[in-house]
Amino acid sequence: MKSLHSAVAGAFIAQFKTTPTLVRAPARINLIGEHVDYNEGFVLPAAIDREMVFGIAPSGHDRCNIYALDQGEGISFSIFDLNAGHTWVNYLMGVLDGFQRRGAPVHGVDCVFGGNIPAGAGLSSSAALCCGFAFALNELFQCNLAKWELATIAQYAEHEFVGLQCGIMDQYAILFGESESALLLDCRALTHEVVPVNLLGHALLLVDSKVKHSLAATAYNDRRQTCEEGVRLLHQKDKTVTSLRDVSAVMLYEHQDLLGEERFIKCLYVVEEIKRTQAAASHLKSNQLSCLGNLMYQTHWGLSRSYEVSCPELDFLVSLAEDEKKWVLGARMMGGGFGGCTINIVDSSYVSIFEEKVLHQYFATFKKEPDFYLVNLVGGASRLEL
Ligand code: GLA
Repeated sequence: MKSLHSAVAGAFIAQFKTTPTLVRAPARINLIGEHVDYNEGFVLPAAIDREMVFGIAPSGHDRCNIYALDQGEGISFSIFDLNAGHTWVNYLMGVLDGFQRRGAPVHGVDCVFGGNIPAGAGLSSSAALCCGFAFALNELFQCNLAKWELATIAQYAEHEFVGLQCGIMDQYAILFGESESALLLDCRALTHEVVPVNLLGHALLLVDSKVKHSLAATAYNDRRQTCEEGVRLLHQKDKTVTSLRDVSAVMLYEHQDLLGEERFIKCLYVVEEIKRTQAAASHLKSNQLSCLGNLMYQTHWGLSRSYEVSCPELDFLVSLAEDEKKWVLGARMMGGGFGGCTINIVDSSYVSIFEEKVLHQYFATFKKEPDFYLVNLVGGASRLEL
């Protein structure tokens, strides 16, 4: 990590001839609780030791001069002319716009950023970009915004400047993460409980399917809309229902005809996943990792068969893990879906054997090599010492 920090600081100094403030924002994983954040349910994410690093200083005027180290691309724009258009710039402009709409005193910045979060792998590199930039602006201009406000600004950037109607899980985990712990986040109350993760001789292994689905954002927004339609219909029957958090499986079965098959199946997945996540958090607290793992497998097949956000490659990776259940306590697709990584809880002594097996069989079937990332749980976005 140190070399990443000095690469970003060095590039900043070379370009802007002054010393920057350095800020980092981690990637996130999610143990369980998928596609429930925008339904006001519970999720169990954590920040991991992959990060986006920012070197930043006030530019002294209203222009932002920003350089993306990994892309080798720079851009200059005024904070009064935030027109979305260009890929990674959208995220940063969205954050600036979010600050301005809150009346927070932001000005132009010089900035270099770079990181080691694989893009498109479902590890929230875009949320790390938004949250890190928001955290840095808050520090630089002493806006005194709370972390949850930074999270909502970063979410606003995705909604309004990128077009992904995402929930709050990624931003929250990136800002509030704690080392060696997951967060049991209540997405309705926007409060969390820190749950220590004791892996008892197991490792958290991500397997990157290397599948990137170009329609993922559209499909994601569609799923969200289906859930919202379900809530609207149920609200007609029971005025206390304002999200799927208020709904039980029994209620869904009662109104199956009203909902129609598609909405019924999708809403049922969400309602069950909210329950699974609460149960999974209890198992984690009582060190019952294999119970947690079983729930992860259930989540995967729910996401695949009912919620329909998986793909053949992810299903294949989870099936391989399930064949080795003695060693791989749990596995499932992670994040929005349609590609990206699976998360696996693997006996540490078995990791290299498992990787070899997966590599061999995945390549034989899909003619693609997966990547493997062993991850550790770390603290949320923070300032770094130079
Ligand atoms: C993406 C979104 C999150 C969440 C997950 C699915 O990562 O950004 O808000 O909805 O998908 O759980």
